[in-house]
Amino acid sequence: MTHGPPEHPKRELLLDPRVPIRDSMALVFENPSLPLDVDVGCGKGRFLAARAAANRQTNHVGIERIPTRLLKVGRKCARLGLRNVALLHAEAAHAIGHLMPPEGVRTYYVFFPDPWPKRRHHRRRLFTADLLTSLYRTMEPGGTLHVATDDMEYHAAILGLFGNDARFVPVDPLVPSEPEQTDFERIFLSKGVVIGRCSYRRA
Ligand SMILES: C[S@@+](CC[C@H](N)C(=O)[O-])C[C@H]1O[C@@H](n2cnc3c(N)ncnc32)[C@H](O)[C@@H]1O
Repeated sequence: MTHGPPEHPKRELLLDPRVPIRDSMALVFENPSLPLDVDVGCGKGRFLAARAAANRQTNHVGIERIPTRLLKVGRKCARLGLRNVALLHAEAAHAIGHLMPPEGVRTYYVFFPDPWPKRRHHRRRLFTADLLTSLYRTMEPGGTLHVATDDMEYHAAILGLFGNDARFVPVDPLVPSEPEQTDFERIFLSKGVVIGRCSYRRA
């Protein structure tokens, strides 16, 4: 029996996680000069694929650390013939801090980041003061960030971080339309779980 290489998202969808995305996105996007939106922790990519299909004049990057999930996203995007999606197999804080272009991201979406509810695990959470600095550095002036979580304590912590930071201005939260609801949003809504949402504009 022969063993082929491990299954992987289509090569042409993958950004090189070793270099800033400016250096590899010309290989992936049909038109690298379009505005850039980033789905952080894109999971299986329901939102990413729907958003990219409905907005072909925007490039989209999905960041995800679980390769099997990226594989599913890759299949969805290939089925839809999307040439405005790229995938990044990376840790989100590293990707935002080191790989995203300075003032190059128009919109960040962070939907249902792992909440790490136990106090001793809070330091593993994505949202930290350092992340806000990376977001500020990489967002276009006037760019937006949308967050949703099912963990109301994490929601309060996120509101606290942004509430103390004059670099971000609160705006109306994004409530996705049904086709753009993420997999986790659909699960939580079906169980009647309250969802905490918040959105910010970069000053
Ligand atoms: C709860 S799921 C939400 C997935 C999707 N956003 C949704 O709403 O359906 C969180 C996702 O973020 C990914 N993730 C969590 N922490 C991450 C990190 N530090 N870097 C990259 N991906 C991460 C997980 O692998 C998982 O797919």
